[in-house]
Amino acid sequence: MPSHGLTSLTIGVPDVEETERYYTDFGLTPLGGGRLATLDGGEQLRLTYAPTRRLIELRVGVDDPDDLDRVERGLRGLDLATERATGSVSAVEPVTGVRATVEIAPRTVQEARPAPVYNGPGRIDRQGSRADGVLRDGRVRPRKLGHAVLGSTDQEATQRFFTEGLGFKVSDLVADRAAFLRCSTDHHNLLVQRAPVAFLHHTSWQVDDVDEVGRGAMQMLEEHPERHVWGMGRHHVGSNFFWYLRDPAGNFSEYYSDMDCIVDDQLWEPGVWEGMKSLYNWGPPPPPSFLKPEDLAALMTDAHQ
Ligand SMILES: [Fe+2]
Repeated sequence: MPSHGLTSLTIGVPDVEETERYYTDFGLTPLGGGRLATLDGGEQLRLTYAPTRRLIELRVGVDDPDDLDRVERGLRGLDLATERATGSVSAVEPVTGVRATVEIAPRTVQEARPAPVYNGPGRIDRQGSRADGVLRDGRVRPRKLGHAVLGSTDQEATQRFFTEGLGFKVSDLVADRAAFLRCSTDHHNLLVQRAPVAFLHHTSWQVDDVDEVGRGAMQMLEEHPERHVWGMGRHHVGSNFFWYLRDPAGNFSEYYSDMDCIVDDQLWEPGVWEGMKSLYNWGPPPPPSFLKPEDLAALMTDAHQ
C-alpha cells in the first residue's frame, strides 16, 4: 500500500476558540493555536479561521520518496498542478477546493488493547464481576482520526482525484452516490458523496469499543443535548458502531469503533449498496438533518457568491 493513513485534517471554522473547546470536550488534547491531538495519532486536527465551515486540507502519510513520485505522476496524469517540497507533494482537488498533501510520516503504531470479556448464551467468560464497560468512569479519549466525509458536486471527478491521483482504493460504493475509499487498512478513510455543494459532512474518530462510543456521546450530551445528531447505531458498510454529534460550526463528528479492516486486498470484494444498507444496519432512523445538514442552503448561497 503506497499510503498508510490520514495524518491530519485542517478545518476552517468561523469561531476557532469555540470549536476548539468542543473538540477538547470530545476528548482530543488541545495543543494551543487550534491544534488538537489524539492519543495514538498525535496532532491530527487543525482549526483555522474561515468565514464559513469547510475542509481546507487533508494530509496523508506515506513511507518514502518513491511514494511521493508515484503520487506526483498520478496527479500529473489528471493534468493537475502539483507542489513538491522536501518530504511532501500537494495538489488542490478542483471540485471541492480541498488541498490534499501527501507527506512522508511515521506510521501510527497502536498498542493492542485487550478485548472486553463478554458473557453470552452457554458462555460465561466473565464470572462474578461487572462488565468492564460499566466500571469505566474516565473521560473518553479518541485513539486516532479515522475518516472524513466530503460532499462534492462532481463525485466521480473527486473520487478520481483520490484514486487515480493519490492512490486511494475503493472499498465499497453506494450506487450513483458515494464511494468509500481507503488509504490504509481501515475500510474507509475518506467517503466522497454526491452533494449540491462542496462541504465537509463529518470527521470520525476511533475509540476503544462500543462502550466508549456510548460513553463518549453521553459525556458530550450531558450539558449540551443540542449536540446530538444520530446514534447509537451500527453501519452496514464498514460495520462500525457510530454516534454522530455536531460541532458549533455545523460539522458532524463521529465516535466509532470496530470498523472492518482490509489487510489483504485480494480477500476483499467491494460491494455496491443501495437503500438502508448504504446508511446503516441498525439504530434509530437517521434524522433528515444527517442526510441534509441544516446549513446546506446557506453553504450553497455562500458558494455562489
Ligand atoms: Fe462516518
